[in-house]
Amino acid sequence: MSEPTPPLHYLSGELTLESSPLSGLAERYGTPLYVYSRGAIEQAWRDYDSALDGHPHLVCYAVKANSNLALLNLLARLGSGFDIVSIGELERVLRAGGDPARVVFAGVGKREEEISRALEVGIRSFNVESAAELERIDRVARRVGRRAPVALRVNPDVDPGTHPYISTGLKESKFGIPMAEAGALCRRAAAMENVELVGIGCHIGSQLTRLEPFRDALSRVLALADDLAGEGIPLRQIDAGGGLGIRYRDEEPPTPAEYAAALLPLLAGRRETLIVEPGRSIVGNAGVLLTRVEYLKQNGERRFAIVDAAMNDLLRPALYDAWQPVWPVRPRQGTPIRYDLVGPVCESGDFLARERELALEPGDLLAIGAAGAYGFVMASNYNSRPRPAEVMVAGGGDWLIRERETLDELMQGERLLPDA
Ligand code: LLP
Repeated sequence: MSEPTPPLHYLSGELTLESSPLSGLAERYGTPLYVYSRGAIEQAWRDYDSALDGHPHLVCYAVKANSNLALLNLLARLGSGFDIVSIGELERVLRAGGDPARVVFAGVGKREEEISRALEVGIRSFNVESAAELERIDRVARRVGRRAPVALRVNPDVDPGTHPYISTGLKESKFGIPMAEAGALCRRAAAMENVELVGIGCHIGSQLTRLEPFRDALSRVLALADDLAGEGIPLRQIDAGGGLGIRYRDEEPPTPAEYAAALLPLLAGRRETLIVEPGRSIVGNAGVLLTRVEYLKQNGERRFAIVDAAMNDLLRPALYDAWQPVWPVRPRQGTPIRYDLVGPVCESGDFLARERELALEPGDLLAIGAAGAYGFVMASNYNSRPRPAEVMVAGGGDWLIRERETLDELMQGERLLPDA
């Protein structure tokens, strides 16, 4: 078992997050429970912001990674921008006090009502992913009487070297506009009456652990910006996307400072504002999922620890075969045994971790690490399981930032058919 990474620490034989003992939180709020560290989230955002200090920039947190209102509000207070992909994320940002003028709207399937709402509140830019979307934005903008700021998301055809499900910048992916067509579409956008072409950008994938793909992609985007400038189409922003990885197991991803040091030289002497859209690297390592062992069971040679969290609470292991660290909250003496950590959901794919050496008894608490990003946001009600509560810890205090879903809420909105 590896050592936990800060803000997790063992203090007097007990796992703590930002010095809050996790067993106390489990007692108070129940399990399964997501717990996040305010300090770690704020530090990660500031790391990006200060690393990019040498150039005009905007750190737009990718809301999809974790969209809890309290978390968005903390980032809004720091002056963060936000990268959104739906009207739901837009309304969250607004309710959390985020500045719409710092919102960029990505995604391949923007609906008309999403576009008109974003125009109404005055977002910074639409990151456009196709010619058809550009036409739609132009039409909606005319109807609502606003000029729509647009940035084209190009597909630079760079292999990010990550899991295929989270690679987005290869030419066969559904994302972005092929490089060969991007110039023509930018010219078209620049000539449109109801849109204003403000930038171009890319996002090539997630959980990247090397810097070269980021540099390659940005170089290609900047070459296109140069071509456009040469034709009298200057841009004000360049979006490098998100994607910086975190440590789950033994990865050694670059820090935001190393990331910035790789990208900023490419921008030397340029005036465009650099936008970055990090999600995972802001919140991933700031959160854990707490779960309690219900039963221990052996089938043939395999031993299972059946816990009270499941694939509906944390989908990454089942969906991507992702490895997430597991730590006992109060490690016990005894010979470790190899367990698969599984939940109560009726699927063989319902596992949270496999083949982990642990000394366990029923009732023990476990913390699944690196669960702050793409954890709660991907939770579902499968098997009619209410979704977990979420808690934020800061400086020894703790706050419930989302109540555990109740059984009534689980069935809210459902209707029976009339008798006849
Ligand atoms: N910008 C765009 C346009 C994106 O599509 C994404 C992530 C981001 C920014 C943020 O990327 P990050 O910095 O978090 O890597 N559910 C998957 C991850 C999907 C990422 C989708 N797009 C997982 O659990 O690994």
